[in-house]
Amino acid sequence: MDPVRNPYSPGAGAPPPALVGRDAELATCSVAIQRFGLGRPDRSMLLTGLRGVGKTVLLREFGRLAEGHRWVHYAAEITEELKFVEEMGALAHGALRALSPGRVVVDRARRALGVLKSFQLKWKLPGEGDVVIGLDPVSGPADSGLLDRDLAGLFLEIGAVARVRGVGILVTIDEVQNLPREHLGALMVALHRVSQEQLPIMVAAAGLPTVPRLVGEAKTYAERLFHFRTINSLADADARAALATPADAEGVRWRGAALDRVLTETRGYPYFIQEFGKHAWDSADGPEITADDVDIAVPRATRELDAGFFRVRIDRTSREEQAFLAVVASLGDAPHHAEVVRAIETWTDDDSWIGKAVADIRGSMGGAEQGVAERLRDSLIAKGLCYSPREGRIDFTVPLFGEFLHRQEGSGGGMESALPPP
Ligand SMILES: Nc1ncnc2c1ncn2[C@@H]1O[C@H](COP(=O)(O)OP(=O)(O)OP(=O)(O)O)[C@@H](O)[C@H]1O
Ligand SMILES: [Mg+2]
Repeated sequence: MDPVRNPYSPGAGAPPPALVGRDAELATCSVAIQRFGLGRPDRSMLLTGLRGVGKTVLLREFGRLAEGHRWVHYAAEITEELKFVEEMGALAHGALRALSPGRVVVDRARRALGVLKSFQLKWKLPGEGDVVIGLDPVSGPADSGLLDRDLAGLFLEIGAVARVRGVGILVTIDEVQNLPREHLGALMVALHRVSQEQLPIMVAAAGLPTVPRLVGEAKTYAERLFHFRTINSLADADARAALATPADAEGVRWRGAALDRVLTETRGYPYFIQEFGKHAWDSADGPEITADDVDIAVPRATRELDAGFFRVRIDRTSREEQAFLAVVASLGDAPHHAEVVRAIETWTDDDSWIGKAVADIRGSMGGAEQGVAERLRDSLIAKGLCYSPREGRIDFTVPLFGEFLHRQEGSGGGMESALPPP
């Protein structure tokens, strides 16, 4: 069918044509926004889940909800290059601008801008001084040089201005697993302080399944600050709706068997649903999408996912890390670290790239088996490819990643092409 009218939207953070199965999270966020707005206690949101389940999409929806209540929405994505303190300064600056429309600067905002100015000076942030020309820095609340204290001071200032203006501020923070512990801790102190003062600042953060542990380790009161929500693959009926609803709107019908097949292939994971939906549409003559169309679409969608969604995940891994991943995949569901070590020790030598790479790992182990395997495991967790679902166990953060790795073995070294040059 006409690719121009294709409604499906595979892509990072790409809004799906039908956002299904997330009503509970949206309702929790909506209630929290309204309660914060009234000065009632509530919690920030923390979404965690595997790659491609729809965390970023939900954060954007939360942003829209907040804007619907005339709140200020500030979006931050935590990358490795991000300078957290700078970003927090930019957040305060952006929020205060939005809260002081035009050239009118109300008294409370004037003070807050002064506090921001001394924060910028203390933390040597670029753009210091251009906050408001001629405005005197206000020393005290946010220029001690201790990040916990200064960030809290800054949040209290902008929260107070928001309160005076009768609105709130939603800060969405994506990829929060990349936040160093001291920054995560400072953010939580700041949130804790504004919640004690019942000021309308709320954070909605999203990240990999490693995040609940990170926030718990950063501060013991984490569970009182956040609504923790795990974002999963879609339930059967929702997955069907995610495929059928957008087609309906274009006058196209999915046959039951075609939907069944896509559900089996994708296991309800949102990213895969969009990719398979897109290829099924392109493969069909219409006005129906049949099981035969899906038969044609499956290898096309799989190729596309392998070359994109999956490939970008392993592009930054070493040959040894890839072999470690292959060993984990060979053991099935979330193996224990000890099983992985044993499998490496007893791996039968062969000429495949995995066989050679595992032999290399063994070579570098030389009596330090635990150490080498632990190093590989930890670096894969740090790179966001793996996480520990239960004590001592290891699993992939990318859904159906094991199947992808198996396909690479079968294709005669597809993965080798992703290997870094020797
Ligand atoms: N509820 C949903 N129903 C249908 N499709 C969805 C839903 N949520 C997200 N999607 C689709 O899934 C894909 C991935 O969404 P998104 O980028 O938000 O995932 P993510 O969890 O942020 O992934 P990552 O961890 O890789 O950043 C997008 O193509 C989006 O359109
Ligand atoms: Mg995302």
